[in-house]
Amino acid sequence: MDLLVVGGAGYIGSQMTKQLVRGGHSVVVLDNLSTGFRSLTKYGDLVIGDLNDIELLDTLFSKKKFDGVLHFAANSQVGESVRSPAKYYSNNVAGTLNLLDAMIKHNVANLVFSSTAATFGNPEYTPIDEAHPQVPINPYGRSKLMVEEILRDYCAAYGLRSVCLRYFNACGADPEGELGECHDPETHLIPLILQAASGRRDSIMVFGRDYPTEDGTCVRDYVHIEDLCSAHSLALKKLIDGEFDGFSAFNLGNGAGFSVDEVIRVASNVVAEDGKRIIVREGERRPGDPAVLVADATQARLQFGWKPAYADLETIIRHAWCWEKNLTSKK
Ligand code: UFG
Repeated sequence: MDLLVVGGAGYIGSQMTKQLVRGGHSVVVLDNLSTGFRSLTKYGDLVIGDLNDIELLDTLFSKKKFDGVLHFAANSQVGESVRSPAKYYSNNVAGTLNLLDAMIKHNVANLVFSSTAATFGNPEYTPIDEAHPQVPINPYGRSKLMVEEILRDYCAAYGLRSVCLRYFNACGADPEGELGECHDPETHLIPLILQAASGRRDSIMVFGRDYPTEDGTCVRDYVHIEDLCSAHSLALKKLIDGEFDGFSAFNLGNGAGFSVDEVIRVASNVVAEDGKRIIVREGERRPGDPAVLVADATQARLQFGWKPAYADLETIIRHAWCWEKNLTSKK
């Protein structure tokens, strides 16, 4: 198939592109390289460009008849979205509208869209299923929910078919060690812990120990990026085979929660094999962090047969550690 991966130079989009090319598909990557990296585009044909460039989109869709689009391009930092909401509504919402308009104009019907657990806000219950109310508590989550709502309307009106996949805590790295995460600044727990082990930072700070959880630290559902990508491949197939019509949305997680302390413990064991240790410091709660976020991904299993291959936290951390060692050995 001919596929367009928007944001294919980023952490998850680059892994997706690799999986698709390995699966025999022809992939064009569209990325403005604002948060993506040319070094992550080893697979697919890179077009450098922005979703706010309507002419570029028109040219891209005129040149090739894509069978489907996978859309990963977005700004995704909660804190930044509170400080700079305009950036989030412009890039995440307006940019996506341009993409959708180009798809409709050029009769490309199939879209897999990267959504997030942040569309749910503070959970009323966990594990969180698709029926859970979506009440985001920051502009990032709102920008993603707005796109979900736009997609609902566009599917009903224009014959678009879309699947929204709501990631819980995306983590891990390419099991083959070739691709991984290079966020700048890095804000996520697992890469920060591993940077503390490799020496790129001096320690990891635990944000709060007074949450209503077993050890007092926040609990999250960590899901491997390769598994997120296989969910995209399966959902895309359903779209293209005509088995999914209109709008649908699924939560993606392993259904198991790990506390910050547990993640640090597992990571400490992994890095100890290389003689490394992790210094832990205590900090205040980070504003906006819910105590527990765990996915109920039953629907993804039932509707498109998703079965995570790397659900084990130690495996996830091993892959991320391998990537961190690659990055630091190149410095
Ligand atoms: N944490 C620390 N210390 C750190 C970094 C994180 O203790 O230095 C804690 C956080 O407080 C949180 C947990 O580790 O409890 C995980 O934090 P991450 O920043 O790795 O991930 P989040 O759960 O905050 O964010 C994820 C996605 C976001 C999404 C959000 C939904 O990465 O895109 O879930 O709430 F918006």
